[in-house]
Amino acid sequence: MRKPIIAANWKMHKTVKEANDFLQEFIPLVEGNNDVDIVLCVPFTVLDAVSKKIADTNITLGAQNVYCQDKGAFTGEVAPQMLLEFGTKYVIIGHSERRAVFGETDELIKEKVNKALQSGLIPILCVGETLEEREKGFTEAKCRKQIEAVFHGLTKDQAAQIVIAYEPIWAIGTGKTASSSDAEQTISYIRSLLSGIFDEDTALKVRIQYGGSVKPENVQDLMAQPNIDGALVGGASLDPQSFAKIVNYKE
Ligand code: PGA
Repeated sequence: MRKPIIAANWKMHKTVKEANDFLQEFIPLVEGNNDVDIVLCVPFTVLDAVSKKIADTNITLGAQNVYCQDKGAFTGEVAPQMLLEFGTKYVIIGHSERRAVFGETDELIKEKVNKALQSGLIPILCVGETLEEREKGFTEAKCRKQIEAVFHGLTKDQAAQIVIAYEPIWAIGTGKTASSSDAEQTISYIRSLLSGIFDEDTALKVRIQYGGSVKPENVQDLMAQPNIDGALVGGASLDPQSFAKIVNYKE
């Protein structure tokens, strides 16, 4: 059985004070929820504060990026060990904003995923199509390219650890959500790709999230789909009440 994983992606939001205020309200709201892995992927600058505040809770720490080297002359980058120092367990890799705004390629994303796995971080690998690609019928081709670029060459054990976030780019931050059946269709296609690269047993172990305008109002429908194992939540994760409602979708 795959345990659902619901992750906040705070993007470039929240100072230390704002993060502490969030947690003050959020922690009691989700206390006792052990049905779901609850992850907060926060900016580097609040990793320390958040890690202290969530110690001894059911919340796990995540980051939003990592570099593919251990150390060196890479100004502005952050190494896996620097994240692990704060107890970080998950790291988002290849978010569409990293790909579009910062020019990250599938090759770099593969190197980052490899490095994260070797270092003991669990990648949350983001894939998904643009509106133009969807309208031209290229959704599956785009996801296949992004999945194959990363998963080819991994062992089955490595593959099974990775969390995939399917995020149609046109649904990110726009208020437009893919219908739960469209999301399910693409996510089950992604699972079939993993089955082809590895085997069915491995494909059934990989947790695949949906991301893109997930809100308290649509989370139940999405989570009711057999292949959707969680959500990666941007805007609605910034408010403790709304993110708690998403995390507690079973109640
Ligand atoms: P959104 O962002 O929930 O604000 O659409 C999701 C994401 O980019 O991970």
